[in-house]
Amino acid sequence: MADRIPTVLTGVKPSGTPHIGNYLGAIRPALGLADRYERSLLFIADYHALTTVQDAKEMTESIYDVAATWLACGVDPKRTLLYRQSSIPEVFELAWVLACTTAKGLLDRAHAFKDAEARGKHVNAGLYWYPVLMAADILLFDTTVVPVGKDQKQHIEIAREAAERFNHVFGETLVVPEPAIDENVMTIPGLDGEKMSKSYGNVIPLFASSKELRSLVMKIKTGSEALEDPKDPDTSLVYALYKAVATPDEARAAAERYRAGGMGWGHAKHELFERLDAELAGPRERYAKLSADRGYLDEVLAEGAARARRIAVETLWRVRKATGIDRAPV
Ligand code: TRP
Repeated sequence: MADRIPTVLTGVKPSGTPHIGNYLGAIRPALGLADRYERSLLFIADYHALTTVQDAKEMTESIYDVAATWLACGVDPKRTLLYRQSSIPEVFELAWVLACTTAKGLLDRAHAFKDAEARGKHVNAGLYWYPVLMAADILLFDTTVVPVGKDQKQHIEIAREAAERFNHVFGETLVVPEPAIDENVMTIPGLDGEKMSKSYGNVIPLFASSKELRSLVMKIKTGSEALEDPKDPDTSLVYALYKAVATPDEARAAAERYRAGGMGWGHAKHELFERLDAELAGPRERYAKLSADRGYLDEVLAEGAARARRIAVETLWRVRKATGIDRAPV
């Protein structure tokens, strides 16, 4: 059995331009975690995206976009191994091994492909296999903790079962990971109050210019109270977004201003814009530089992949030995 090195791992599917919902709901919460673990890995799940992104140009663009976005938002590639899933061939070998001990019935119950099927979408075999590949992503690095949103909870359950099942059949080999679902991270509403999502067309792009950001913030739906009326922060979209970016103290002070009356919606939106702009100005500038420098991004990703592979090869060797396929991976 492996030593349990406290290891945190997250995968991000490259799909589309990141928006403020991604930043507040996933990127910012993940950034703080790297320092709390001895080992931290962050990868671009390009082969997972292939189940849905089937346009070469879009795929390539999105891969660089994810890398530039996370780096711009503050991932330190010295501290966190940042790599492309496709650069780690061991992932795909482990996925096969896990598929051979994982019950088909476990995959039959997975929400992700069942939802796609229910919506009448074409379900490719990759979508069905998705949880096995994800289990391999996680188990290959003896991951102890996987921070994920609620929608990924079942996938982590499947990864745990896959590890337990392998260990049951071949002896203690794989580390069983824990999910870390941060219940405090709220769902970020979009301009219309629905969850902020590309498919609802209600997003604020993360790297919109100051000018675009201002004009999008001005479009957020509000009540029709008069300027002098007190306003209820808890039912306000503008406040919900403000609260998600601001510190708890800033949020409390803003709630008082809402309740006191005398502050119009225009002013409330202006405060939100100022706060968002202050938070995003640095990342926006870094993103512009990074996304124009693919050579640098390639270097960071290659370095991350080389370091990640050193761990991957060792785990896979343990797995091979456990199964009797006792040829060391090269
Ligand atoms: N399925 C995840 C998503 O849709 C992405 C992902 C792939 C992932 N492999 C992972 C997340 C491993 C955490 C760990 O966002």
